[in-house]
Amino acid sequence: MTGPLDPATRFFPPHLVPYWSHPLVRELPDRRRHELLARHLYHYLTFTAHFETRVVNRATERIADGRTGLALPAAVRLDAYRIYCDEGYHALFSLDLVEQIAAATGIPPLPYAFDPFLRQLDGIGSELLPGEPLLAQLLQVVVVETLVAPVLAEVPADPAVLPVVRDVVRDHARDEGHHHVYFSRFFERLWSDLPTPLKRRAARSLPELIVAGLAPDLRPVGAALTVAGLGADAVRQVIADSYRTRRSAAASRSTATHTVRLFQDAGVLELPGATEAFAEAGLLPGTPDRPAPPSEP
Ligand SMILES: [Fe+2]
Ligand SMILES: [Fe+2]
Repeated sequence: MTGPLDPATRFFPPHLVPYWSHPLVRELPDRRRHELLARHLYHYLTFTAHFETRVVNRATERIADGRTGLALPAAVRLDAYRIYCDEGYHALFSLDLVEQIAAATGIPPLPYAFDPFLRQLDGIGSELLPGEPLLAQLLQVVVVETLVAPVLAEVPADPAVLPVVRDVVRDHARDEGHHHVYFSRFFERLWSDLPTPLKRRAARSLPELIVAGLAPDLRPVGAALTVAGLGADAVRQVIADSYRTRRSAAASRSTATHTVRLFQDAGVLELPGATEAFAEAGLLPGTPDRPAPPSEP
């Protein structure tokens, strides 16, 4: 990317920004809204960079290195190293794009900490699968790599979005299509190798791992809205109205469709209490919506 950007540049599709149409956000001056969209993109990219290296590659490395306890063919391990490289590259181009856009626009990224989000995500595994940290991490990576986030399809499809952003997300989506297939097959191996008592425990933990994998990281949203000029009460209001809704629950269920089907096909839901746990989490069609419990802003 070269040269300064047009002030009308669209950094991200507004319909993918949950708070974009909130009345309190609509009242902000145009310049602040422009910055908010840039910061939403920064957040998406920065979160991606951390997620790839600290969540996906943490487990992928173990598969690649042969430290899962499973007897994996060399070809499966080699593919895990390929994914490890893909994810490292996704992190690299994500941060690179933030820096390029910040330099071209003069809109600085806000400080970001991934640790609170990671603690929350890992807390689910340690609570529901105590004594099985490796299994929790492997199930976690299967979940997050089989969720199909609408961002990956919708950003490249929006002709009004900055071309470099569309190109980066399109490349990422192509890689994630391969990863989706890999982790679906990996799950089948992992599952068939688990002893039945552990299968039962894992089956009941999977819905919560899905819900945790879908939970938005709201701290940076709060920070961006604050810098845009909203007071603490307004920030809380915008987040409550935008992220804890029936619509967001339905969107989560749609993002998790493939993941839930993968587990259904493997017989996970036939284990005692599993169907109830998936229904309780709002993950089965026709079950009441339960919005993902988001992290505190
Ligand atoms: Fe990735
Ligand atoms: Fe991936």
